[in-house]
Amino acid sequence: MSKPKVLVTRRWPDAVEARLKALYDVTLNESDVPMTAEQMRQALKDYDAFCPTVSDKVDASVLDVAGARTRIIASYGVGYSHIDTEAAKKAGFVVTNTPEVLSECTADLAITLMLMAARRAGEGEREVRAGNWTGWRPTHMIGTKVSGGTFGVLGFGRIGREAAKRAHGGFGMKVIYFDPFPVKPELAAETGAEKRDTIEEVLRESDVVSLHMPGGKDNYHLINAERLKMMKPTAILVNSARGEVIDGKALAEALKAGTIKGAGLDVFEGEPRIEPSLLECENAVLLPHLGSATQATREAMGWRVMENLEAFFAGQAPRDRVA
Ligand code: DGY
Repeated sequence: MSKPKVLVTRRWPDAVEARLKALYDVTLNESDVPMTAEQMRQALKDYDAFCPTVSDKVDASVLDVAGARTRIIASYGVGYSHIDTEAAKKAGFVVTNTPEVLSECTADLAITLMLMAARRAGEGEREVRAGNWTGWRPTHMIGTKVSGGTFGVLGFGRIGREAAKRAHGGFGMKVIYFDPFPVKPELAAETGAEKRDTIEEVLRESDVVSLHMPGGKDNYHLINAERLKMMKPTAILVNSARGEVIDGKALAEALKAGTIKGAGLDVFEGEPRIEPSLLECENAVLLPHLGSATQATREAMGWRVMENLEAFFAGQAPRDRVA
């Protein structure tokens, strides 16, 4: 029997690519250049499985192919707002993601962003590298103490809860959260997290607000000018979720006006483009979508895609089906 034909849209860790080669008739993207919409459409006609990442916009126009050969879209990453799952469902594609395996590393990065923004680590590094540091002094580059503060989580799923564990266990922070879905009491109890009924309550009470909800149209610009005004002027906003959750222009204005103290951002609407006014904000820490970027996690994400492919081609239900 011939092996299923699999297309991978970007470079993946070597060990995972080697295993894919052993098991499938796989086409890898050696150049790592993102595919165009037309190339993705063609891939859906030519391959049994299509494996995109967050950098591929698999929208309705891409999915609208006559005579598709692809039956499974096995995405590398937990978030799947880059795929129009409604259109995929309608067109008969199975869609899978890679949850769980990246929760710890993404939460680690949320805490990195919190500390960098609160302790002005980006600004400090820039000062040292520019040769502008004139030495220790009591009033130099004063930041914000996070220990003992309130850590507000919007989206209390796996990654939000991991971030809460770190904030609570590592920094003695009180955890409050809002999630539109019910959270099992034992999961909230791990950090003594208190539920709030609205986003606004979390914004008003928190010293650090960390975003962990999915992207896509439901949460588009959830954090806008009006909501930024509800935050404490001393507060830090952290986003390791999806860029479109924040109105970038409104955030830059809030950072410049002192509406909030600082922000730590790992994701951006329309990335890798960055809202130009955010680049002008010294009090914003900007990282290039590094949440899951550790060797162990990037490999684990690949193994999880392979698990989904193996189940699918064995005629079983893939574990991480989202559409
Ligand atoms: C994901 O998996 O959704 C991340 O954003 C990529 O690390």
